[in-house]
Amino acid sequence: MTTYSYNISNQKVDCIFDATINQLENYAPANAVVIITDHHIAALYSQQLSAYRVITFVAGESNKTQSTVDQIIQQLILMEIDREALIVGVGGGVVTDIVGFVASIYKRGLRFGFIPTTILAMVDAAIGGKNGVNVGLYKNMVGTIVQPSFILFDYTFLQTLPEAEWRNGFAEIIKHACIRDAEMFSNLQQHQLIDYIKDAKLLTDIIQKNVAIKLEIVAQDTLEKKERLFLNFGHTVGHAIENSAQLKHGYAVAIGMAFACQLSEKIIDFNPNETAKVIQLLKQYQLPTTADLDVDMIINLVQADKKRTGKEIRFVLLSAIGDASIQAIPIETIRAQLIEISS
Ligand SMILES: NC(=O)c1ccc[n+]([C@@H]2O[C@H](COP(=O)([O-])OP(=O)(O)OC[C@H]3O[C@@H](n4cnc5c(N)ncnc54)[C@H](O)[C@@H]3O)[C@@H](O)[C@H]2O)c1
Repeated sequence: MTTYSYNISNQKVDCIFDATINQLENYAPANAVVIITDHHIAALYSQQLSAYRVITFVAGESNKTQSTVDQIIQQLILMEIDREALIVGVGGGVVTDIVGFVASIYKRGLRFGFIPTTILAMVDAAIGGKNGVNVGLYKNMVGTIVQPSFILFDYTFLQTLPEAEWRNGFAEIIKHACIRDAEMFSNLQQHQLIDYIKDAKLLTDIIQKNVAIKLEIVAQDTLEKKERLFLNFGHTVGHAIENSAQLKHGYAVAIGMAFACQLSEKIIDFNPNETAKVIQLLKQYQLPTTADLDVDMIINLVQADKKRTGKEIRFVLLSAIGDASIQAIPIETIRAQLIEISS
């Protein structure tokens, strides 16, 4: 077990790697812990969770809503949970987004931590303090930025993770490589997904590296004014297609990254050979790079994006693999590029 502590907006966030769920005892006695999880994890891990009070909601992005938040809060009230309790979200990104939000608003905020159980949550969703829910098709429209006290990495949960969810998480790993780390990009080129599933050392190394990349960016810019915007590479179009086309988050971001590379060629002379390398890497990790696009629906959703001002949106482009830049781009330019790639 190794613990790294990061300071984000004057709050200490512990990352406890190679841990087990039992290490929760370092943060609170079992009778003070309330686990909140989805019904898949609750069923698969009932034994591991048996020492704690557990609140369960139905898994899935379509349940990342205010209604689920309200139901959880009703249960917290019924259980008479007070401000001394420790709330722990155990699950994928849907769980960590909802639980962080619940814990940051229930009784004006309780201490909380996460045990991420998907690759995507381990390398991305559990990190950085962005919590919240969707409103209809609009992603993450309501939420807070409040940091967890700890993120506990218990890799034994991954033994039950379906392969499609491994691919989903590797989309965010490829994203980090594209915006920040050309060396990790070439390491990924030399491996297949199965190598990471089978080789525990390879997996823990890449997870720790990705956690460090995300935390360093978030520590510089918690409120997403500048540096943190880079993490949205692939997400502007990705978010718009995720809910409208009912794709997994990482799959939608993969399509969004391919699109962002093509737009980068047009706007900042990103080398087309580099676009080909990014698309090839996404395919190597069995991620989609195209989809049937409903351009009007995507533009409608992009217009509601938090990064839009007037007729422009701050869009993350690549100038090279490992080097991102942000440009204000007219929404109409995005529409034209979407029409071009979908015709
Ligand atoms: N807050 C952030 O910074 C941030 C960053 C990236 C993504 N996100 C959000 O994360 C969400 C996507 O997260 P996700 O891909 O982890 O999805 P998810 O939470 O829906 O999990 C995917 C599926 O895997 C199941 N599952 C989880 N762990 C499992 C395990 N160990 N074994 C078996 N099944 C398991 C879940 O029950 C679910 O059915 C999206 O809502 C996205 O917006 C948030």
